[in-house]
Amino acid sequence: MTVAPELPVSDLLTSRPYVVSTVRQQTHDIVTIDVRPEGEPIAFVPGQFDMVYVYGTGEAAISASSDPATPELLSHTIRAVGGVTQALNELQPGATIGIRGPYGRGWPLAAAEGRDLVIVAGGIGLAPVRPAILAALAQRERFSRIALLVGARSPRDLVFRDDLDRWTADRRIDVHVTVDSAVRGWSGRVGVVTTLIPRVPFDPEHATVLTCGPETMMWFTGEALRKRGVDPAQVYVTLERNMKCAVGTCGHCQLGPVFLCRDGPVFAWPEVADLLGEREL
Ligand SMILES: Cc1cc2nc3c(=O)[nH]c(=O)nc-3n(C[C@H](O)[C@H](O)[C@H](O)COP(=O)(O)OP(=O)(O)OC[C@H]3O[C@@H](n4cnc5c(N)ncnc54)[C@H](O)[C@@H]3O)c2cc1C
Ligand code: FES
Repeated sequence: MTVAPELPVSDLLTSRPYVVSTVRQQTHDIVTIDVRPEGEPIAFVPGQFDMVYVYGTGEAAISASSDPATPELLSHTIRAVGGVTQALNELQPGATIGIRGPYGRGWPLAAAEGRDLVIVAGGIGLAPVRPAILAALAQRERFSRIALLVGARSPRDLVFRDDLDRWTADRRIDVHVTVDSAVRGWSGRVGVVTTLIPRVPFDPEHATVLTCGPETMMWFTGEALRKRGVDPAQVYVTLERNMKCAVGTCGHCQLGPVFLCRDGPVFAWPEVADLLGEREL
């Protein structure tokens, strides 16, 4: 598992100012916001999250969705579901927000070296795995096959379409996109993302899988991978629960015996299989 870079204790709860440089509309309710720090950039590892603060409104946990090689341009991809995320969706270039972090355990990219890397993303779940895809492509020779399986409810719910087009053309990564229901003009595959798992070429005995999306989708992904013969210990998921402190002290993110902020948000399947779908505390 990728370990978070050590932050000085005094920095753990300190929010720093970042200026919005670009806002990219991904879908009707999802934007990607690129920000630049007013001070020194802070490194993150793929899979980590930040606490993003809209002054006067509040804070939300949001995964980094940008390239970890360029921490001076940090991105978060946000679906508007409530007060803070709606305010984030309404930000304009030039606005200042606060960010503290990064927090948590990231994707196990080092452990996946020499193996097939399979990434299964549902909807906005492509955002937290995007830094892992970019990092893997930057060191492409360290992995065997790389396959990306993306599902969305409909074509208009697909995020990072430019990336999907670029990666498909790139051919160093095997990209498969499917939608639950098609609209006129869609010529791609139709069906839930788990229907791709039996047919995509990878070696189940030598594959490490990263998956992110709704918990139901991750549950069925885990089942489909097990049927394909993938060792559950090689399947990693990232979980979301309400967060407050993000440093393992308040208990808001507790799920059974684990604190998601401190022990996750990335977990190996056997660590959380019994907990998936449990109600938040
Ligand atoms: C580690 C982690 C990474 C995350 N990464 C992203 C990301 O990259 N992009 C993104 O859009 N969101 C992400 N989230 C979810 C995001 O934190 C919540 O959507 C946000 O806190 C909601 O705040 P709000 O004030 O807008 O809405 P609220 O008014 O607090 O909540 C609105 C609705 O969303 C539900 N909700 C609140 N928090 C969560 C949550 N954590 N998971 C599921 N439902 C929730 C509430 O129950 C309520 O129904 C992540 C959460 C965690 C824990
Ligand atoms: S958010 Fe406070 S313990 Fe995890």
